[in-house]
Amino acid sequence: MTAGSVASRAVRVLVIGSGAREHALCVALSSDPELTALACAPGNAGTRALAEPLAVDVADPVDVAGVATAWRADLVVIGPEGPLVAGAADAVRDAGIACFGPSAQAAQLEGSKSFAKHVMDAAGVPTARSWPVGGPAELETVLDEVGAPYVVKDDGLAAGKGVLVTDDRDAAVAHGRKVLDGGGAVLVEEYLDGPEVSLFAITDGTTVLPLVPAQDHKRRDDGDVGPNTGGMGAYAPLPWAPPGLVDEVLATVLQPTVDEMARRGETFSGLLYAGLALTSGGLRVIEFNCRFGDPETQVVLPLLETPLAGLLHAAATGTLAEHPPLRWRKGAAVTVVVAAHGYPERPRTGDPITGADGEGVLHAGTALAADGTVVSAGGRVLAVTAVSEDLAAARQAAYERVAGVRLADAHWRTDIALAAVEGRITVG
Ligand code: AMP
Ligand code: GLY
Repeated sequence: MTAGSVASRAVRVLVIGSGAREHALCVALSSDPELTALACAPGNAGTRALAEPLAVDVADPVDVAGVATAWRADLVVIGPEGPLVAGAADAVRDAGIACFGPSAQAAQLEGSKSFAKHVMDAAGVPTARSWPVGGPAELETVLDEVGAPYVVKDDGLAAGKGVLVTDDRDAAVAHGRKVLDGGGAVLVEEYLDGPEVSLFAITDGTTVLPLVPAQDHKRRDDGDVGPNTGGMGAYAPLPWAPPGLVDEVLATVLQPTVDEMARRGETFSGLLYAGLALTSGGLRVIEFNCRFGDPETQVVLPLLETPLAGLLHAAATGTLAEHPPLRWRKGAAVTVVVAAHGYPERPRTGDPITGADGEGVLHAGTALAADGTVVSAGGRVLAVTAVSEDLAAARQAAYERVAGVRLADAHWRTDIALAAVEGRITVG
């Protein structure tokens, strides 16, 4: 190694964010032999064991860049969408530091559903038909033309909670009106049937490397009922996925989207997350996200054998084409989200948690109280994860770990990955 090569490697890595996704990133990064120092800003009670906690205002790009500079980061990895849409990656790059995450402009792929639709149209990417609605009267007309099941979306960022899928016309109207009354824009969409897949790809804006597909469980309660949440659990890989799925998504969705963004001069680098429905008419994009998914990251990263810091650094520095092919562990991973009482509407915080320091227990909304106890500090509190030789064994191990956690009135789904283990998921 020459002296000059040190600065171009990801030896000091700073992760921005405070959820279980960031905890999973810290776990994976800390096993990269190239890494010499890891920090997480602001982090949570779990990331502190692996990564130096740094105070930051994640909503302020100038502060994010300032913290990265002061800590002498070689690479900054931005977890959540909020800072990306606000321009944190631009600010970090302007400070001369490599950053894994798209520019504010490119992050509009997640930040504006109508922008994403324009890009998909131009790139020929298959997605649900959609109709922007300008006001309450138009909302009702469009809903009646499209028919049930109704899909009504907040056009902007809503932490996974801006979408209502329902057969109830009154509820569809009420949801759309609430968004419009709050000053937001509303899209009505064609309903997509079929199982959902989350496929992540690492990209430097030109080369696109897909990861293994995962499936999230978005509804709060067993049997896929209850309100939409940020995600109640996930598993990977998908034993029921059609052969060739990843290649097809790369060819028809991921590469064309990255190429279209480059053509527009809005190069997308970082993590492109395609939320897909495998409908009877073929695959369709439900949404794009501009960052690692939560909780899918908690099951995808433990299966990745390739050192993560080098991979993310290659994406951040435009050198993915020279990166060796990704290597994957055999087996499967399952994560079960332990949520606070009242999630998602009114999560209760401040409850003590015990049993949260075991292997695979990733912290989401946790904090250290003044007396050193770990307390809940958000809606999704923990993501309890296990890797094993197959999905059934990983599922069993994850639930055994959940049983070791104590959080008053906690809620978790008992059926994460169950339909897949029982062979009940069919495509087409
Ligand atoms: P989104 O925030 O766009 O990911 O949507 C959240 C969830 O709502 C998705 O994971 C789907 O379960 C559901 N959803 C969104 N759009 C559609 C659609 N067009 N058809 C059916 N379900 C949808
Ligand atoms: N798991 C859904 C998301 O990260 O948006």
